[in-house]
Amino acid sequence: MVTDVDIVISDDPAGVVADLLAAQAHAGGHIVLTGGSTPGHAYELATERERDWSRAELWWGDERCVPPDDERSNFGMAKRALLDRLDAQPAAVHRMRGELGAEAGAEDYDRELGELARFDLVLLGLGSDGHIASLYPNQPTLAETERRVVGAEAHLEPFVDRITVTLPVLRAARELLFLVAGADKADAVARAFAGEPSPATPASLARALDGPTTVVLDHAAARALGSSA
Ligand code: 6PG
Repeated sequence: MVTDVDIVISDDPAGVVADLLAAQAHAGGHIVLTGGSTPGHAYELATERERDWSRAELWWGDERCVPPDDERSNFGMAKRALLDRLDAQPAAVHRMRGELGAEAGAEDYDRELGELARFDLVLLGLGSDGHIASLYPNQPTLAETERRVVGAEAHLEPFVDRITVTLPVLRAARELLFLVAGADKADAVARAFAGEPSPATPASLARALDGPTTVVLDHAAARALGSSA
């Protein structure tokens, strides 16, 4: 297999990612969380490995345009799985304000980013269509070079508007970390990590330019990798 990322195939992918999150929390990094259903267990395990996140700052890569207490909120998921389980809260929790709507929420988050040049660790999931954060296949958001945060339309459930960081922000990260599980992601994994970079598969465009890009997979998600090199 030819690939430009570090692939880790594990029986316990959530545990692998939890170790990396907890280490960053301990070190006081700027950590970017993701949404979706896959990372919740990793967040829970990360709080067992490190209960004091007071040196770290938390950010998000994308958010659904719903209030923070809506069950579809990425912040809400992280609150339940992570923040509510800690002994000591992060030094700052920079949530995307989905309730402002896509455009105003994106402008608000750009202000929140301020002068921060790069994140220490950016966690990403992967959609079965190859999307990352809320950057969907063949969308103009993939060509954004100026803005760090933009509004977006959802192309998969839940069908609510989104706020998302852009590719230049992801590429500037000190480390990009993907967590992907399940057979329904296998084709997208092969396209994203063992295929040619293409806007048809946004994850294939997300690589840290000056640091590692690590991809943590379960066996089901990895199953198409060998055949696509
Ligand atoms: C979101 C995301 C999104 C997610 C993938 C994978 O807000 O939905 O951040 O990019 O990571 O869609 O989601 P699952 O883990 O639910 O498959």
